[in-house]
Amino acid sequence: MDLQLKDRVYVVTGGARGLGRATADSLVAEGARVVLSGRTAESLTAAEQALGEAAVSVVADNADPETPRRLIAAARDTWGRLDGALISVGGPPKGPVTGIDDNQWTAAFGSVFLGAVRLSRELGKELGAGGSLALVLSSSVRAPLADMAISNGLRPGLAMVAKTLAEELGPQGVRVNGLLPGRIGTERVAELDAAGGDPEAARAAAIRTIPLGRYGEPEEFGRTAAFLLSPAASFVNGAMVPVDGGMLRAL
Ligand SMILES: NC(=O)c1ccc[n+]([C@@H]2O[C@H](COP(=O)([O-])OP(=O)(O)OC[C@H]3O[C@@H](n4cnc5c(N)ncnc54)[C@H](OP(=O)(O)O)[C@@H]3O)[C@@H](O)[C@H]2O)c1
Repeated sequence: MDLQLKDRVYVVTGGARGLGRATADSLVAEGARVVLSGRTAESLTAAEQALGEAAVSVVADNADPETPRRLIAAARDTWGRLDGALISVGGPPKGPVTGIDDNQWTAAFGSVFLGAVRLSRELGKELGAGGSLALVLSSSVRAPLADMAISNGLRPGLAMVAKTLAEELGPQGVRVNGLLPGRIGTERVAELDAAGGDPEAARAAAIRTIPLGRYGEPEEFGRTAAFLLSPAASFVNGAMVPVDGGMLRAL
């Protein structure tokens, strides 16, 4: 199957590592070009160098209201077009409802929630027919994760915003979808596993909940995201797609 990604241009926020980077790798492998963003110049430069001429990067925080404008400008100034975006960001801190304070909620809301809403809104307005947005959400859209109050609080609302935007942008031929990773072996997941003091035990317990009996590889997520962003997925719109090895018990 040809994903028809050659020479298309995608913004990938949170693109230096993890799920964003894996998606950028897949997009570039299929002939697309990417604008990577994140908060740290060093990791972005390393990613840009690894991807070669098909990538440029912009140091930009998803929480910053100026970020959408700067990313759109980078895509247009570098390659003269914009076909879509993967919106990823650093995950919110771990903790129970009873242990998370107002400041933590407010900070997470600014980057995870409002940042994604603003980027989707502003980039969506720039896209023409065939354009595609994909939001990196979480299995917490459908079922709460233990000790992840902020994710459980914010992700379901974001999924409904994405669904609403899919209805709004559909008439102009622009698709909006969400991705629901379960447990993919990125640095963030390694950090979450280590947070309790016994990473091996945490990993083993998580794997017991996954029918495929292992963590996902970032590449497995990246391929799914690249497909959803591509014209090959031209009739997939307003969907929430789990990439979780069967972990979610909900349909
Ligand atoms: N991995 C999984 O299995 C999994 C499961 C469920 C949900 N998720 C969610 O998926 C998202 C990505 O996860 P991941 O595993 O790829 O995380 P990760 O390995 O921590 O990577 C996150 C990337 O986003 C960048 N970033 C962080 N905060 C940012 C901000 N405010 N603005 C712009 N870029 C930012 C980071 O670079 P800088 O720090 O340099 O900015 C980094 O490149 C997270 O929101 C996570 O909660 C992941």
